[in-house]
Amino acid sequence: MADSRMDKIVSLCKRRGFIFQDSEIYGGQNGFWDYGPLGVELKRNVRQAWWADMITEHDELSVPEGAPTSFDMVGVETSIIMHPQVWKCSGHFDLFCDKMVDCKETKSRYRLDHVKGRWLESKADTVFVTAVADGPELLEAVTKRALKLLDLRSNQADRLVWKSEPASLATIAVDQYSSVLAPDATKPGTLTDPRDFNLMFKTTLGALGTEADAAYLRPETAQGMFVNFKNVCDSSRVKIPFGIAQIGKSFRNEITPRNFTFRSREFEQMEMEFFCHPSQSLEWYRYWRDRRYQWYIRHGIASGNLILREHAKDELSHYSVGTADVEYAFPFLDTGEYGELEGIAHRGDFDLRSHMEGKLCKENGQLVVEKGPDGKPKYQGSGKDLTYFDDQARERFVPHVIEPAAGCDRATLAFLCEAFHEDQQPDDKGVMQERLVLKLHPKLAPIKVAIFPLIKKEGMPEKAAEIYRAFKKAGIAAAYDQQAAIGRRYRRMDEIGTPYCITVDGDTMTNDTVTLRDRDTLQQDRLPIKELVSFVQEKLR
Ligand code: GAP
Repeated sequence: MADSRMDKIVSLCKRRGFIFQDSEIYGGQNGFWDYGPLGVELKRNVRQAWWADMITEHDELSVPEGAPTSFDMVGVETSIIMHPQVWKCSGHFDLFCDKMVDCKETKSRYRLDHVKGRWLESKADTVFVTAVADGPELLEAVTKRALKLLDLRSNQADRLVWKSEPASLATIAVDQYSSVLAPDATKPGTLTDPRDFNLMFKTTLGALGTEADAAYLRPETAQGMFVNFKNVCDSSRVKIPFGIAQIGKSFRNEITPRNFTFRSREFEQMEMEFFCHPSQSLEWYRYWRDRRYQWYIRHGIASGNLILREHAKDELSHYSVGTADVEYAFPFLDTGEYGELEGIAHRGDFDLRSHMEGKLCKENGQLVVEKGPDGKPKYQGSGKDLTYFDDQARERFVPHVIEPAAGCDRATLAFLCEAFHEDQQPDDKGVMQERLVLKLHPKLAPIKVAIFPLIKKEGMPEKAAEIYRAFKKAGIAAAYDQQAAIGRRYRRMDEIGTPYCITVDGDTMTNDTVTLRDRDTLQQDRLPIKELVSFVQEKLR
């Protein structure tokens, strides 16, 4: 991880039970992560905030701010293993590939654009010294390797003569590979030419396990909505424009998973396919792009750390006529660099037509059915009618699709990074101590309120337990803690992002009031017990 803040976040996640390395007792698995008791609550709250915004709190009777018209929203939950033809028609079977290179010396495999390096003046020639890292960590790793290559000591970095700024291996011509020092190799020239590697996890259905039984774990949830477009239209009263949303696991056999949960092999997506009339699609694209950016801001990401980036034409996916990314300044990146949280894509009619007619490809700027060597469609579509009939306008058309596709794990990581703060606060004896605090939005915080008896006698524990149960009964995640000095109890709660702490003290026993401490302002107010639940409920709205 690039800066020490990231190290501290990873360490806090493990120490307090947010995120663990998967199968850690067996040495762990690269690209797989487990959420602990607090992490599972945080992630559930992220999911819940998205689902509420998309589905449960959506009001189809009114026009949301900035939207062209009112619209319907519904949800689905579809299978992880879909019919193999889905992936042939969607393009994933042929095109969902990353370029990778192998190292002949170490037998390691790298994703081409994840290998980065710098040209270094060496004895005979220049060498492109590489590492798999980002930001300051890349510079550190490349310098270390350059010193080793030239037999220099760690305090002789000023003798290195760099001929370029850091760049991706993808920018280096293949005929220069003889001068590339691969990330773990001892000498230059050990990399193979780049080749394609399909990212879908393959499995087989049934006991025979032949090629005819091959199936794939879904690499995106989106296809579940496309193949159910007709089912949803036929079974519910949705009218175009409308959206179908889904949250679920996706799987990609990433060549170089890295940066904590940012790039994993198993992750969760929150995707929505919005079906609209082609003539309104650009308006809807802009609407969803701006609305999705605002969702992150509303849930606590500072606008200075979040950008909305429109893709250049040559960056667009094979199906897209317009895409924007919501990107966050993750601490493992260099200053000024951003990592993708969500893509908002205008997918045109690519998906519905592909599932009707067979896989489409672009020919002379037009989407046409891709032909195999025999002149027939390379991959047969379902042959089902996936058009939409607008009975008021008496018009039949293939809807266009706008897709906001977010990563639940990436959003969770961004909220954690944004919330992470360090400051100094006096302890119970007035000595200044370092404080770690997660300033999570109250809606996302795993525990909303903690209740402490000041001392373990004089009826205070019983009173505190009563308050604790009142919160539980109201469905608000609460904690009870009577161990250690009050300052330490506050700090334990600050570290996991609990926005409010309530202390039952001597006065409580006579006037039924308590102190309520705010995590961020540290202000302590006295409140009647009977107002506590509604106070916290109001803050969670
Ligand atoms: N249906 C379109 C689609 O899947 P994508 O940009 O490939 O688009 C959407 O994925 C989101 O899923 C990304 O913006 C990211 O948040 C998340 N995501 C993709 N690959 C991921 C990975 N390997 N690990 C964690 N999250 C990932």
